[in-house]
Amino acid sequence: MAEIKRIVILTGAGISAESGIDTFRDAGGLWEQHRVEDVATPEGFARDPMLVQRFYDLRRAVMQEVEPNPAHHALARLEREFTGELLLVTQNVDDLHERAGANPLHMHGELLSALCAICETRHPWSGTLIDGPPCPTCQAEALRPDVVWFGEMPYQMDRIYRALANCDLFVSIGTSGAVYPAAGFVQEAKRHGAQTLELNLEPSEGSHWFDVSRHSKAGELVPEWVEEMLSE
Ligand code: APR
Repeated sequence: MAEIKRIVILTGAGISAESGIDTFRDAGGLWEQHRVEDVATPEGFARDPMLVQRFYDLRRAVMQEVEPNPAHHALARLEREFTGELLLVTQNVDDLHERAGANPLHMHGELLSALCAICETRHPWSGTLIDGPPCPTCQAEALRPDVVWFGEMPYQMDRIYRALANCDLFVSIGTSGAVYPAAGFVQEAKRHGAQTLELNLEPSEGSHWFDVSRHSKAGELVPEWVEEMLSE
C-alpha cells in the first residue's frame, strides 16, 4: 500500500459499540427496541414529537457518559500522522471521533446539535429538547435533533463523492452496509479505481464488494491497520 496518498474512511455504529453505544441492527440494537418509522422519519416526528425528542434526548445523555475506544484513538492518530489526504466520514451522531482528537464529517448529523425547523439554523446543543427551548436565532420553539432521518438528504454529499472519486483507498469500519447512500460508497470508490478494505465484526451486506475484509472487533482491527499504514 506504499502508493496510497488519499484515503476515505467511512465509520458506522460498530466503531462506537465497544464504548457502550448500542448499534442499530445487531441483536438487541436500537431498531429492535424502537420502530424506525416512529423515531427516525419526519413523519414520525410530525405524529409524535415528544416520543422522538425523548428518544434523542436519551441518546444525547448516554453519549456524554461514554468514552472513545482504541478504534477512535487509532483513527485520530492516522489523521494526525498520515502524510497524504484523509477524509473521515461518519454515519454516527455521537462525538467520540472528536473526543479522540479526529475531525469527522458527520453525514447523518450530530446529537450535539439542534436544528431549527423554521429558520434552519444549526446550534450546538448538549441538553434536552423535549422541553421546547426557543431557537437562539429566531426564538421559535421549533428545535429538532440535527439528525438526518430516513427520507432526508445526508450532509455534504458533494464533498464526499469528490473525495471518493479521487481516493486510492476506501475503508469501511463498523457498518452493516444496509443504508444508502453510505452503503454505495464502496462501489463508487471502486469504480474510480480505489482499493477497498472492510473492517467489521462480521461480513456486512456489501462485503463482497471489498477487495479485503477483516472480521473482528473494531477496537482490535483498527489500531492494527493504522499501525500497518503508518509503518509503510
Ligand atoms: N467492532 C466492529 N464492528 C462491529 C462491532 C465491533 N465491536 N459491533 C458491531 N459491529 C458491526 C455489526 O456487525 C454491524 O455490521 O457494526 C455494524 C453496525 O451496523 P448497524 O447497526 O446497521 O449500524 P450502521 O451501519 O452505522 O447504520 C447505518 O442506519 O438507521 C441508520 O442512521 C442510522 O447511521 C445509521 C445507519
